[in-house]
Amino acid sequence: KGQPLRRPTLTWNKSCCLLAMRTKFWLPQYRDRMARNKKRLPHTPRAPPTGHLEGHGHKPSPVGQTPIPPPVPSQGYRVGDRVITMGRSGMWQEVVVVAADRTFPMPEQMSFEEGAALPINYLTAYMMLFEMANVRSGQSVLIHMAAGGVGIAATQLCHTVPDVTVFGTASPSKHEIIAQGGVTHPIDYRTKDYVEEIRKISPQGVNIVLDPLSGSDTQKGFSLLKPLGTLIVFGAANTVTGQKKNLLALAKTWYNQLSLSTLKLMQANKAIGGFHLGHIADEQLIRRTMFTLLELYNQGHIKPRIDSRYHFEEVADAMRRMHERQNIGKVILLPEAKKEEEKPTSSSEPTENVEKTEAAVTEKEEAAAEEVKAEKD
Ligand SMILES: NC(=O)c1ccc[n+]([C@@H]2O[C@H](COP(=O)([O-])OP(=O)(O)OC[C@H]3O[C@@H](n4cnc5c(N)ncnc54)[C@H](OP(=O)(O)O)[C@@H]3O)[C@@H](O)[C@H]2O)c1
Repeated sequence: KGQPLRRPTLTWNKSCCLLAMRTKFWLPQYRDRMARNKKRLPHTPRAPPTGHLEGHGHKPSPVGQTPIPPPVPSQGYRVGDRVITMGRSGMWQEVVVVAADRTFPMPEQMSFEEGAALPINYLTAYMMLFEMANVRSGQSVLIHMAAGGVGIAATQLCHTVPDVTVFGTASPSKHEIIAQGGVTHPIDYRTKDYVEEIRKISPQGVNIVLDPLSGSDTQKGFSLLKPLGTLIVFGAANTVTGQKKNLLALAKTWYNQLSLSTLKLMQANKAIGGFHLGHIADEQLIRRTMFTLLELYNQGHIKPRIDSRYHFEEVADAMRRMHERQNIGKVILLPEAKKEEEKPTSSSEPTENVEKTEAAVTEKEEAAAEEVKAEKD
């Protein structure tokens, strides 16, 4: 807060064609909350920005070697074009320099905010549903954190397949919105046992479980799978409670992990997978999937939901909103400084503020209960 933004540094990439891009919006991610606990400063996250192209260049050839011919204009881009980009780090900057093959042209009707919110959430949801779990017509899917970025993306993508039933867990104040977004059965996981609630509607369980929680929820998810069903673990949200790293929650999640032998798995007739977008090295797969997603956007099948916008100097407020679980959809950051006369840009509704109180109270109660338990132990 109050620090000047870092200037871009040119780091030469394997690809010889580089583009400079003036950013319009950045995406803070759930995982940035966790990364904040362990990354040394200065560190700028990887989350994808959108913006206008400012220029292009190419990787200089090493001394004594034949110069590489300038590859401009690259991929049909022109200065001023609107693009989405993805990088492994250093993305929260006013100007970023990226390899051309890591950029994607934005559809005309797509806003910069939507462009920033699309890649991580939709790539994650798409690859899990279609590359790993192979969702098909007539199937049912359990989506946890259904009001979050990945949850909303997964719900929309499920509905690109006919007759898919979506069970979505979320705080009750978010149910109306997620139901409008396509969740067939919103479930209040805070006050009810979601396993029981699902079994009341579908006694046999579900075909696919997308699990960003880990720990005991992975065990519950596995128990909910129908024969030949698939569970995909892609996060460990249960390890993060409140604003600080919680070692007790970490230990509890680790202790409650699903653990079973391959022989048991064979007898269960179920599949377990793990997914981490950051560990996918196949650039072509990412590129192909991004173009599929942009096509789905053009056809009106998917649309990222923007929760709120914050200027960079308000980054602490933006992260707080995510910490306190108030967001429905994505929180977005604007690189430029806030103008004096500007009013608060967060679109939080009174209901979300109620939710903030509920969430804060629940977290405090949970933390207090855990402390008491730890002391007893
Ligand atoms: N493996 C990958 O490649 C990959 C990629 C992207 C994201 N992820 C993971 O996917 C998960 C969702 O990310 P996201 O960006 O969609 O999140 P998000 O948009 O920030 O959504 C967070 C929402 O999830 C709900 N929630 C439920 N349990 C929670 C918990 N234990 N802690 C915090 N929030 C909880 C809260 O809503 P309620 O009020 O409804 O509880 C909260 O508002 C994260 O675990 C993230 O690490 C993994």
